Amino acid sequence: MKGETDESRATLGSRLSAVLVAAGSAVGLGNIWRFPAMAGDNGGGAFLLLYILCVIVLGLPLMLAEFSVGRASRRNAVGAYRKLDRRWSFLGYNSVLVAFLILGFYYVVSGWTLEYFVHSVTGTIGRYDTPDAYRGIFENFRIHPWRPTVYAWIFVLITHGVIALGVRRGIERSAKFLMPLLFVVLVVLAGHSLLMPDSDEGVRFLLRPDFSKVTPRTVLAALGQAFFSLSIGMGCMITYASYFNKETDLRRTAVNVAVLDTVVALLAGLAIFPAAYSAGIFSSAEVPTAGPDLVFITLPALFNSMAWGGLWAAVFFLLLVVAALTSTLSLHEVVTAYLHEEWCMSRKGAAGLTTVSMLFLSALASLSLGMLSDWRICGLTIFDSLDFLTANILMPVGGLLTSIFVGWRFERRLLRRELGIRGRQRSGRLTFLLFMLRWVCPVILLAVFLDNLGLL
Ligand code: TRP
Repeated sequence: MKGETDESRATLGSRLSAVLVAAGSAVGLGNIWRFPAMAGDNGGGAFLLLYILCVIVLGLPLMLAEFSVGRASRRNAVGAYRKLDRRWSFLGYNSVLVAFLILGFYYVVSGWTLEYFVHSVTGTIGRYDTPDAYRGIFENFRIHPWRPTVYAWIFVLITHGVIALGVRRGIERSAKFLMPLLFVVLVVLAGHSLLMPDSDEGVRFLLRPDFSKVTPRTVLAALGQAFFSLSIGMGCMITYASYFNKETDLRRTAVNVAVLDTVVALLAGLAIFPAAYSAGIFSSAEVPTAGPDLVFITLPALFNSMAWGGLWAAVFFLLLVVAALTSTLSLHEVVTAYLHEEWCMSRKGAAGLTTVSMLFLSALASLSLGMLSDWRICGLTIFDSLDFLTANILMPVGGLLTSIFVGWRFERRLLRRELGIRGRQRSGRLTFLLFMLRWVCPVILLAVFLDNLGLL
């Protein structure tokens, strides 16, 4: 960090804020939109079990690694690696790049949730009666020449407003308000879904493991989902942890964040599947549709079949908007903190530059689903290539190198200090963590990476 001392750097007010802010990053579209769809595709309960295993075995050690790097250096992702070991600065650049590229398509989907929220408030969502009609609406909306772009832009500008307010007044304050709101809304939705007649079929689907559906692919899908959902494999948690105060217990924070993130994913599944089975949208033989379809096609049709459907739709899409916002904030912050500290820009200027670039990239990603669908990179649209490049290549590589860095290169003394491991009796925990970071995480991540490239 040039020209600024550590003392003048923003620090979060309390330990609770650390949990809320990091959980805000972790809880996002990944939990509410992607997790239920993936669980639906991969055998419900069996996927859930694998997912939890991935969170514990790989997710937690890596989150601790990122937290330690962030708080030990108190820098943005690039500055952090540069301070700890210059030769590893490239990993910081990879992080900022991934944040930038993920944001490109994340803003587009966030924009869709905002549009659906607006339409459920105005009542236009509830006008159709078959799932096919909803499919038509969604397809037409996605390829519309400007509407999805405008909504993505509104989302970028809202995020900008919060980021420009600063770490304490913007990010911390919004997390303290938005995270409890999200939780309450989710509990209400799940409760409502569970109270619908014959909802137990949906619960069984989500909680009863059916191992006949499990293949090596399922394991990889669970792993990728765990990483995406916990916001690890790139500098998000490094950047946020750089604002944690000295009293924050990193181990406890990581466990809290992982538990909250998993509980939210589970509740999202419970808000969706029991209601969907109850309304007869899925029969047990027919597995729910994957990808964007579940949220943007199946669910609007489902809400329409309920009493007070418009209200439930509005509440659900509000939930998605809130979840998406706390995550775009964390990604926007990675790029902003980098520009602010490494390019010596003012914070507002750095946020502004990030925002202007995002307006451009999100418009490209959004239009690539319609007007610009002929612009292809290796056969993929811009939207799909951003997704593919980050999820399948850059994030696993980022996770792999982060675990190698912290396992092998990071000073043991610093790691002990950050994790609050003192004295001999506790050394077992450190040895265990190092074993995971040195061997288990790299081997598994290498396998994921090679498999993603079709080399395994
Ligand atoms: N974890 C968020 C979600 O579940 C998305 C996200 C935010 C993310 N920051 C990230 C994913 C950093 C990967 C890396 O939707």
